[in-house]
Amino acid sequence: MVRKQIVAGNWKMNMDFDEGRDLAFSIIRKLGPLHSQVIFCPPFIHLNYLSVLTKGIANLSLGAQNCHQQNNGAYTGEVAASMLKSVGCEYVILGHSERREYFAEGDEILAQKVDVAIANDLIPIFCVGEKLEIREAGTHENTVEKQLKGGLFHLEKDLFSKVVVAYEPVWAIGTGKTASPQQVQEMHYFIRKAIANKYGKKIADMTSILYGGSVKPNNAKELFENSDVDGGLIGGAALKASDFIDIINSFPKD
Ligand code: PGA
Repeated sequence: MVRKQIVAGNWKMNMDFDEGRDLAFSIIRKLGPLHSQVIFCPPFIHLNYLSVLTKGIANLSLGAQNCHQQNNGAYTGEVAASMLKSVGCEYVILGHSERREYFAEGDEILAQKVDVAIANDLIPIFCVGEKLEIREAGTHENTVEKQLKGGLFHLEKDLFSKVVVAYEPVWAIGTGKTASPQQVQEMHYFIRKAIANKYGKKIADMTSILYGGSVKPNNAKELFENSDVDGGLIGGAALKASDFIDIINSFPKD
């Protein structure tokens, strides 16, 4: 079963319009033909322009970093999934630990966001991951399983098959402290097993599970080599064209 290999760049709240355009240009200029799916996830203001810039480039897509849980209405300052779709987005990151932590997004809201994203034909990149104290207490698998159950496992099988999962241990995000390839493989195996228990092996084998947390050009290869790691969600290193390209080129050659 061939799973999609994905490298998604999460620009977070970085890059004004000119900087974002220049970054995207320099990446695109240096990209060879893409064998994996590459996704730019910039702040909202870039999406419309980048959808024009990336149009027609095979395997290069756009994703947003969030959407609101309602379809439309009086929610000042928010952006709806249908609006993202209308500017050419195909993906949306949901449940990122920064959203969970700083914007108090819990299971219930995230489950609604997943539903509204899928209803608008967006693919959720659903993030799970434990904080340092949970890892140290040894209960990280329980935490991740709870996040999967709370935000994703309400989906019917045919809808779940559209989802991408990203494992991002909070202690590794933006800290320069990457989880070891073994820790990553163990958790990805656990996540795939949890998906298999809920939806069956076939769906589990088809689900792309990305790792995120201080992925850099010098560690991407050893992370991506693991059998249950299908790519990465890249923060800091997605802001430098040469680093992001090196990471894209880190997949084992087939
Ligand atoms: P990082 O961020 O690569 O800067 O650790 C990853 C993420 O938060 O998606």
